[in-house]
This record gives sequence, C-alpha cells and structure tokens, in this order.
Amino acid sequence: MTPLVLHVQSQPALSAYVAEGLARVERRFARQLETPIPPVAQLVEHVERYRGKMLRPTLALLCAKAADPGQLGLTDEQVTVATVVEMIHMATLVHDDVLDESDLRRGGETVNKRRGNEAAVILGDYLISKSFHLCSQLDDQRTALRVGEITSIVCEGEMLQNHHRGDFNVTREQHFDIIERKTGALIALACELGALQAGASNDVASLFFEFGELLGAAFQIQDDVLDLTGSEQVVGKNLGRDLQKGTLTLPVIHHLASLSQDERAATIEQIRAGAALNGHRASFVSRLEQTGSVQHARDTAHELVDKAKALLLTQPDSPAREMLLAMAEAVVSRAY
Ligand code: IPE
Ligand code: IPE
Ligand code: MG
Ligand code: MG
Repeated sequence: MTPLVLHVQSQPALSAYVAEGLARVERRFARQLETPIPPVAQLVEHVERYRGKMLRPTLALLCAKAADPGQLGLTDEQVTVATVVEMIHMATLVHDDVLDESDLRRGGETVNKRRGNEAAVILGDYLISKSFHLCSQLDDQRTALRVGEITSIVCEGEMLQNHHRGDFNVTREQHFDIIERKTGALIALACELGALQAGASNDVASLFFEFGELLGAAFQIQDDVLDLTGSEQVVGKNLGRDLQKGTLTLPVIHHLASLSQDERAATIEQIRAGAALNGHRASFVSRLEQTGSVQHARDTAHELVDKAKALLLTQPDSPAREMLLAMAEAVVSRAY
C-alpha cells in the first residue's frame, strides 16, 4: 500500500525528507522486533510483510518539520516517536481484526485468519510491549507518559465500541466519543510527539495534538464511509464489517434518525436480518443515499478537516505546513 503522503507530493525536498524518514522508521521497526526465537519471528513476519499508509509516522515527521521548519535532517528521537506510534497502531489493528473477525488486512490475510485468535492476541500484546520498550529508551520521560496515557484512551474507545455493539440507540455524542478515542487519540499523539521532539512549547504541542484529533476523527468517518461504499480490492480489508458486527457508524446513525418511527423499526429489523451484508451492500447504501446520510458523513468529515486546517494556519508558513494541509484533504478524499 502506498503512503498517503505520496498523493500530495508537491515539494521534492520535503518529499525526500519524508521518504527518508519513513525508511528509517521501517528499519527501526524491524530492529525493535528482531528475535532469535523462530516461532516468534514467524509471527512478527506477518505484520512486517504488509505496509499500510504510514499515516501516523508521516504526520509525526511532518509535524516535527512544521514545528521547526529550520531543522536540519531528522533526529533519532523523531524517528523513534514515529516508529512508536506506528507500532502501537499495528498492535491495535492486530487486536481489532480479532474483535471484528476480519480475514483481510492491507491486501493480505490477517494474523487471526492465518494463525488463529490466540496467536493474534499475544502478538498484539507483544507489539504494545515492544513499542513501550522503544519509547522508554528516550531520555525525555514526557513521551513515555503521553504514550501510556493515550494508548489507554485508544483501548477505552475499542471497549466502548464493543459495549455498544448491536445498540441501535447509540447517540451521535457516544459515537463521537468512541471515534475520538479509538482513532483520534493516536493520530493526535503522533502529531504532538513530532512537534515536541522538534522542541515545540507545550502550547504549540497541544495545538498539534488538537489538529491530529480533528484529523483522526475525520479519518475514521471516511473509513466508515468506505466500509459502506468502498471496494475491498482497493481498500485491502474486509468491508461491510461494521454493521455485520453491530457497530453503528455516522451514516447509519444519521439514516436511522431521518426515518419515521415505523420506518426506523422496520429498517432495524432488516439490518438485523442481514440487509446490509455484503451481497446487499449496494442496495443498502442507496437507501442511505436517499436520506443524504452518506453525504452527511462526508460533510461532517470535511468540517472537521476545515477546523484542523484552521488550527494549523495559526502556525508559521512552511513547506511542511503546506503538506500537512494537503494531507488533511487527502484524509477525507482517499479511496483506500
Ligand atoms: C485503520 O487505519 C484503522 C482506522 C483507524 C480506520 P489505517 O487506515 O491508517 O491503516 P493502515 O495502517 O493504512 O493499514
Ligand atoms: C478502527 O476501527 C480500529 C482501531 C482504531 C484499532 P475499524 O474497525 O473501523 O478499523 P478497520 O476498518 O478494521 O481498519
Ligand atoms: Mg476493524
Ligand atoms: Mg473500518
């Protein structure tokens, strides 16, 4: 899968900076997971074989550069925090695929599909502990504190989502609380840590956190839209899984709220009976389109991106800031 940033490649020098940074992240990632124990190495190989969009490390690298546009090259610490956020992300995906019973991820089979749930659970734990070990190697204790704090919030988001499975009365507020935790928090952390490692003040680091939080929520809304409207071939993971697992996302919450009481009850029954399952996905989506619910989700994601961009515009102009602004757009226009 291509890194998302390649879509917005307009500055050759900055693109080279990001490409070099991501290559260093990949090497650090691999080094941190090196093991002489063959069964462990075999499991680790599953997560190393397929690369994702590298959104979080890219944001960490770009936020570092935007917080200190004059910086020469990348520091080791910046590479470390970018690696830490990607490793935590990967751990959450390995576990999330168990929760969602998914068998496809990044165009390949999930760990749970290939090796079973038990192996996936322990591999996810291993990735979390390796990422904590990596960030505790930094002299600055603040990073480890924030990583621990935010990783707990991500887990809370997944726990809340699990709690609300099959809950057709889940509110918009509860839904936003879930997505801000399970996705917004880690993307926000990537931005904040990048800025902090570039010497940003606490105020500036908080601004980058907020930028990432807004972007992260928009990113998840687009992911949820793609779960309904996307192509499995392009996205590289199972789609239609949200409703199949009883997780209501923004387009569905909006749709149910747009119907009369009788229509709503009938629709819930139809969803329970499989009206949104894969073979029927297209016709279910056309019903969502009739109430403007897909568009509503897209508009909401755009509003969040606009707010994120407005925050960034308070920072000094720089090529990195420009690229972050373009990435913010790519987050909601992406097809994978
Ligand atoms: C998937 O994240 C999980 C969500 C938060 C929607 P990504 O879409 O960033 O996954 P990869 O890293 O590109 O596979
Ligand atoms: C994101 O939610 C999960 C995490 C933040 C770990 P999803 O369940 O929508 O993610 P995908 O679609 O499986 O990547
Ligand atoms: Mg999932
Ligand atoms: Mg999803």
